[in-house]
Amino acid sequence: MLKEIINSRRSVRKFKEDKVDHELLEELLKYSLMGPSYGNARPVQFVIVEDQETLNTLSNIETFGTKYIADAPAVIIIMADRDLSETWVEECSIAASYFQLLAQEAGLNTSWANLKEGTTKDGVEIQQFARELFNLPKNMSTLCMIPVGYGNDKIRKRVDFDPSPKIHYNKY
Ligand SMILES: Cc1cc2nc3c(=O)[nH]c(=O)nc-3n(C[C@H](O)[C@H](O)[C@H](O)COP(=O)(O)O)c2cc1C
Repeated sequence: MLKEIINSRRSVRKFKEDKVDHELLEELLKYSLMGPSYGNARPVQFVIVEDQETLNTLSNIETFGTKYIADAPAVIIIMADRDLSETWVEECSIAASYFQLLAQEAGLNTSWANLKEGTTKDGVEIQQFARELFNLPKNMSTLCMIPVGYGNDKIRKRVDFDPSPKIHYNKY
């Protein structure tokens, strides 16, 4: 049930050492590309990172928020071709969200880390850093990285909440 998957998904930052099967990963990524897309432009692409040296480099870009990436079995870099779409951020966000839910359904766990804005702790602009690290052409921009694996952490139970203060009819 989709509602159960949404409710049970929490960010997980500790993983078992088990690798994620490539066939499974590619199937989940295929379905992640099936969301709505402005003008059906479909600009999103992925880089799957499993190489330990690259995972270490990614985990070191910030002083907080990305450290745990070094211990993930894989990280999905979500990016899009800006030549195909001005709405590349929305397109990447849809793919990232779909992927997190699909992974949850498959018994995997994920988190989300910024790979769009700011600078690395060495002062390199993030897009330039990603372009060099992944050999990206100039028209590709990265949004985020999604560590994925079999979680090895306590899952915090979601606290139920009343959504009504956030829902408005006709006017705010
Ligand atoms: C745009 C965005 C950026 C995020 N950046 C980070 C990050 O850099 N590091 C991290 O550990 N989690 C990051 N997260 C995950 C959030 O911290 C997490 O979703 C939030 O605390 C809610 O917890 P939950 O995902 O378990 O519901 C990010 C989430 C989003 C949507």
